[in-house]
Parts: sequence; structure tokens; C-alpha cells
Amino acid sequence: MVEPHFDFGSPLVTIKNDLFLRAFSDATLPRPPIWLMRQAGRYLPEYKATRAKAGSFLELCRSPSFCAEVLLQPLERFDLDAAILFSDILTVPDAMGLGLTFGVGEGPRFSRPLRNESDVNALAVPDMAKLRYVFDAVAECKRALTHNAEQRVPLIGFSGSPFTLACYMIEGGGSTDAFPLTRRMMLQRPDLFKKVLGVNVDAVTAYLSEQVRAGADALMVFDTWGGVLAPRLYREFSLAPMKRIVDALRAEFPKTPVMLFSRGAAHSVGAIAASGAQGIGVDWQSDLSAARAAAGPGVTLQGNFDPLLLTTDEATIRREVSNSLAGFDPKHRYVANLGHGITPDADPALVGVLVDALRNL
Ligand code: CP3
Repeated sequence: MVEPHFDFGSPLVTIKNDLFLRAFSDATLPRPPIWLMRQAGRYLPEYKATRAKAGSFLELCRSPSFCAEVLLQPLERFDLDAAILFSDILTVPDAMGLGLTFGVGEGPRFSRPLRNESDVNALAVPDMAKLRYVFDAVAECKRALTHNAEQRVPLIGFSGSPFTLACYMIEGGGSTDAFPLTRRMMLQRPDLFKKVLGVNVDAVTAYLSEQVRAGADALMVFDTWGGVLAPRLYREFSLAPMKRIVDALRAEFPKTPVMLFSRGAAHSVGAIAASGAQGIGVDWQSDLSAARAAAGPGVTLQGNFDPLLLTTDEATIRREVSNSLAGFDPKHRYVANLGHGITPDADPALVGVLVDALRNL
């Protein structure tokens, strides 16, 4: 276990701008909090400069001080109400021994993917000591956000979902074809597939718990690929394992909001809301008002502007912000965000326009 450097419960550190955390309580807010998925990333020249100094993306992730440096970059440019840990979801399967690499200009690759029964039987929850660099990065990010015992904005910790991690672990990388090896194992050998999911549930629970102990103020689970499944299979193989994580986290850290983001799962927003998660990420292919109708009033919704807007122009962004919020109350249990991560071709000036439009709702 990593010694916590800060204790949110103690009077030692207060959060100066806690709008983001307040979006998970009942109060109607003066305006919605704003942050952007992948707000630290390749669209920023200063991010690319830090990555070059670090040597590579993975070396950047493994250096707590460089993580803290890139965490602050978008906060210096834009009026954002939350920061997200700089790391990656694939740190966890890497710590399981699957051999993660990122080729230049390519996606992630695992050199030892799970391809047969003996691979799955050998899989185990990694020793959290192997992920210490992530917990150190959480503490360092928290420190970088804090001056004179005041933390600028809340810090969000995160993990991949058990299903999304399984996609990369079995396929060995990304897929343009909805992860056929993964889905074949799921359909043909659900017993084996559930073994993988079970290890992932325990690993993600331990990983997120340690992030809270290191200082994370809220948690987000990225289920990027749950939407490749039919609704009934999504609920069995993606949502049910996430619910086990939510149950464990809520029991141990009842004050830490947990958000689930399943891309392409608008069909199951009601079931996601019933999981007990305090927040639901809404993707850009859904409607916020339909998500609200399905989720009910008690859960916080986050989303869902199209990242592509950040490659258009100011008038288009302002029009779309207003159109997509029609019939939706943005001051009640809502966090303004994109409906997926910022892309490398986003124009930083247009990110500023989006943040400005959202601040003036
Ligand atoms: O600012 C933030 O949002 C925090 C950092 C963050 C990264 N990855 C940094 C990153 C977060 C939250 C993630 C999550 C993540 N990683 C997801 C789920 C969210 C999503 O986008 O759907 C997934 C599927 C991954 C796995 C992953 N990491 C892929 C598929 C890739 C390559 C994709 C690409 O665009 O090239 C990464 C690399 C990655 N993760 C980068 C960053 C900033 C780019 C790497 C680089 O700088 O070269």
C-alpha cells in the first residue's frame, strides 16, 4: 500500500474549485463543471515536447513528475473544473505480464496476449507494487494541483473496464473489426472469458482503491468497447463486472464518486444507472435528454459533445452546444464534457471556444 500524501477528509487540504464534485450531490449548480476526456494529449504542442523529453509515451506514464507536468498543461490554457490523472488503461494488463508496447504512430500491442486456456489459467491479479508508479503519479499530480493547502480542482483517477481490458488482452492490440478473437472466446468459452473478467474485476478494484488512497477525488471506468456487444451480452459481460467494482468501491469509499463510461451503450443507460454508479458518461452518438429520461434524475450525466467539433469552427461549435442541450437541464447533475476523447488533430483554439461556450451556458 502506498502512503497517502493527502487526506481529502482532513482539514489540511481543501479543494478551491469543487464544482465537479458538487455535480454528484443534489444541489442545482450555477453552471455545469467542465473537463474534457484526453485533455492532456497530442493536440497540445507542449504535451509533445514533454513526451519527447520523457522519451516515449510509456516512459512519460512511468514518470510521476512528467505526469504532473502534462496534467497541468490543459489547466494553464483553459478554464477547466477537473483534472484527470495522466496514465493509461493498459498499465494493468502490462503489470499482469502481457508485455505492452506502443509503436510510433501505432496503437498499443501486447507481446503475450491471452490466446488459449493455459494463458488464461496463468493470469492473476498483479502485485499492486508493480503499479506503484501510477499511485506515485496520483500523489504527484495531487501535489502539483495544490498550493498553500488549496487544491485547484478535483483529481479524477481511472481504469479500463474489465471487458475493455479483456479486448486488448485477448486480441493483443486494437481492432478494426470489433475484437473477433475476444468475442469468439466470450461466445464459445464463456467459462474461460469469465475467468479473465474475474481477474480484471479484482485487479481494477485494487487499482482504483489504491488510487483513492493516493489522493484521487473521483473515479472513472472507461468501457470503450462494451458497445460492440448486443445489449444482453453487454449487460452480462461488461456491465455486470463493472457493477462488482462499483459495489466494492462504494462500500470502501462511499464519498468518492464513480463514473462509468460505456461507449455505444445508450441501449442500457437505465441498467447502468441501476448499477449504483454515481455518474454515467454519455457518448456523442447519444442524446443527453434521452439519457436523462432513461437514467432518472438521481444520477450525474457527463458528455457528450462530438470531439470532431474541435476540428470545425467557432460558429459550428456554438450552434452545436446550444442544439445538443435543447430539452436538457445542464445545471442539475451534469458534467460538461466531450462524448469521447480529444483527437490529435483538434485545434487548441477551438478547445478554448468550446470551454467558453460551456462556461456561459
Ligand atoms: O487526459 C486524459 O484523458 C488522461 C489520459 C488518458 C490516456 N489514455 C492517455 C493517452 C486516458 C484516460 C486514457 C484512457 C484510454 N487508453 C482508453 C479509454 C478511453 C478512450 O479513449 O476510449 C483506451 C482505450 C486506452 C488505450 C490506448 N492508449 C490507446 C488505444 C492508445 C492509442 C490511441 C491513439 O490515439 O493513438 C493509447 C495511447 C494514449 N493514451 C495517448 C494518450 C495521451 C497517446 C499516446 C502518445 O502520446 O503517443
